[in-house]
Amino acid sequence: MAADEILKHDDDDNSEFLRPDDLSEYLTEGTKEAHDRAENSPFAKDFLRGRIKRELFKLGTAALFYVYSALEEEIERNKDHPMFAPVYFPSELHRREALAKDLEYLYGSDWKNQISCSAATRSYVERIYHVGQHEPDLLVAHSWTRYMGDLSGGQILKKVAQRALKLPPTGEGVHFYHFEAIHKHAAFKRFYRSRMNELEVDTEMKERLVAEANLAFKFNLEVFEELQEIGKGVKEEVQDVGFPAHGDMGGDISK
Ligand code: HEM
Repeated sequence: MAADEILKHDDDDNSEFLRPDDLSEYLTEGTKEAHDRAENSPFAKDFLRGRIKRELFKLGTAALFYVYSALEEEIERNKDHPMFAPVYFPSELHRREALAKDLEYLYGSDWKNQISCSAATRSYVERIYHVGQHEPDLLVAHSWTRYMGDLSGGQILKKVAQRALKLPPTGEGVHFYHFEAIHKHAAFKRFYRSRMNELEVDTEMKERLVAEANLAFKFNLEVFEELQEIGKGVKEEVQDVGFPAHGDMGGDISK
């Protein structure tokens, strides 16, 4: 089924039946602890509470620009690879251009000269290039970790950032979180999972993909830790406008 067909489906349609040995379930289960660590890291907790400094938000957006530039370059290289082709959805998912727009808004027209790739971001980016060029079977783990995360928790972060940083309601600065071509996030996530579950993977490959996704989570956590450290030296007013408690996340982020 094509992406636009599935997106017409109702969000509450539970027609997708997942089995424990599906790759999507392996990945969800196998990265649970890493997800908990990322979600409960001081940087993520501060962000969720609306305690995000503008300077850190800018640096975080720059880090994402380098990550997605690498990821989408490697995705393009591997778009016909049998271990990637079923999950190749550039017009729905790709974020590089959205991030470029956000950086232009946040840094101004000279943004390219003002940003640089941090040490933690560089390690992440190097791994993505390595995987894309030498172990392309594993690229789907990186794609899943980022895009499915952005379609889930990322939607909460968008609202918090807009409120905390007083960004305009028209979306400037947070284009990254807005997937213009995806109207029903839950339906698209189900569709993506079902496509991923069509990949020909044996148990050994599933385990390698879980290990790679855990590595992707680790890189993301390291970027968070680096930002948290930088934040200690940044003096800025922050306001408490985030979500009151973890677990009360609203309705649009469900599976
Ligand atoms: C899924 C929240 C950080 C990757 C989710 C879901 C929520 C969430 C609510 C939906 C769970 C569900 O559907 O049952 C958060 C919050 C974060 C955070 C609040 C902290 C800021 C991250 C990070 C990554 C990530 C750093 C990795 C880069 C994922 C992925 C999924 C997901 C891949 C999809 C899991 C699946 O489909 O089974 N997140 N997340 N998340 N998140 Fe996060």
